[in-house]
Amino acid sequence: MAAENEHDKQTKEEQHRAGEPKGAEDQHASGDSAEKPLTDEVSQDVAATVGEFMEKAAAQNEAAAEDLPETKQHTPSAYITFDKVSKSFGSFDVLKEVSFSVNAGETLCILGRSGVGKSVSLQMLLGFLKPDTGAIMVAGENICQFSEKQLQGIRRKVSMVFQSGALFDSISIGENVAFPLRERGDMEEDQIFQVVKGLLEMVGVAGKEQLLPSDLSTGMKRSVAIARALAAQPEAVLYDEPTTMVDPLMAHLLGSLIERLKHQLHLTSIVVTHDMRFAKKLADRVVFLHEGGARFFGTMEEMEQSDDEVLKEFLALDELVLPA
Ligand SMILES: Nc1ncnc2c1ncn2[C@@H]1O[C@H](COP(=O)(O)OP(=O)(O)OP(=O)(O)O)[C@@H](O)[C@H]1O
Ligand SMILES: [Mg+2]
Repeated sequence: MAAENEHDKQTKEEQHRAGEPKGAEDQHASGDSAEKPLTDEVSQDVAATVGEFMEKAAAQNEAAAEDLPETKQHTPSAYITFDKVSKSFGSFDVLKEVSFSVNAGETLCILGRSGVGKSVSLQMLLGFLKPDTGAIMVAGENICQFSEKQLQGIRRKVSMVFQSGALFDSISIGENVAFPLRERGDMEEDQIFQVVKGLLEMVGVAGKEQLLPSDLSTGMKRSVAIARALAAQPEAVLYDEPTTMVDPLMAHLLGSLIERLKHQLHLTSIVVTHDMRFAKKLADRVVFLHEGGARFFGTMEEMEQSDDEVLKEFLALDELVLPA
């Protein structure tokens, strides 16, 4: 079957690339390589406006990376740092002195079983939850004591793509994506229309502006959520389980999109995922949360070579679960 052949080919390519640094795949000229321009799918009539919008985002993200302060505690270019972060709910310690960091322009995958605190970590990053102790640095600032107003500034820099998509149910897809553009207050109606159209084309949901979120599949909703996140021109995007409940092809498309955003917009990303193939494709580094701690923090290759029985068991279980 053609699908199986394609799958075999892909697996061989992945094996061949094992050990190469992330980004090396750019040299393998494939149809959905990280270098394929984001605006490739965008129609001619809006390409110039969308191209300009994306160039501005890329330039802003490069400048943000250069602005990061160098301090003794934090690696020079860490955009996000968890420094001995602890969080309990009642007597339940979800996170105990968890530390990891994400460099500007890098993708970190957070792995771990259900209930280990992956979503809680993302919520703390945006200030929806506060850590009990420890520091969370975003773009060079400790956000733990931030006021609600200051946190709103952080939420403009760091966008979240929620597992559910978290779109506004009662307004159209087009208005959902337009929302961050309108909030800025500096764009003409015609410009907003063009950017919305282009962003939806870019994420593979062309022409759905008039539909409501309930008219779309789970994968499409997630694509729209990514378009809405991009409309805010963030410096970093947090994705909570982007591939859960979507078919393998959609998962592949979302993975390619996340990769292209990283390379072309210099976006810093955190991806929470159960999907090891997805993590292998995207992660510069992974953090594995287990029983309240960051059991492992390093590259995927290092994780696969680890002698830690807990990690080995997690990876072995994943092998068993994947074919289902
Ligand atoms: N606001 C809250 N109040 C009380 N307990 C909470 C709250 N938010 C999360 N928890 C608890 O914290 C633990 C970690 O939750 P979290 O949602 O981060 O898990 P997760 O790693 O994202 O799991 P999954 O893979 O299933 O999404 C869970 O036991 C959860 O019940
Ligand atoms: Mg979760």
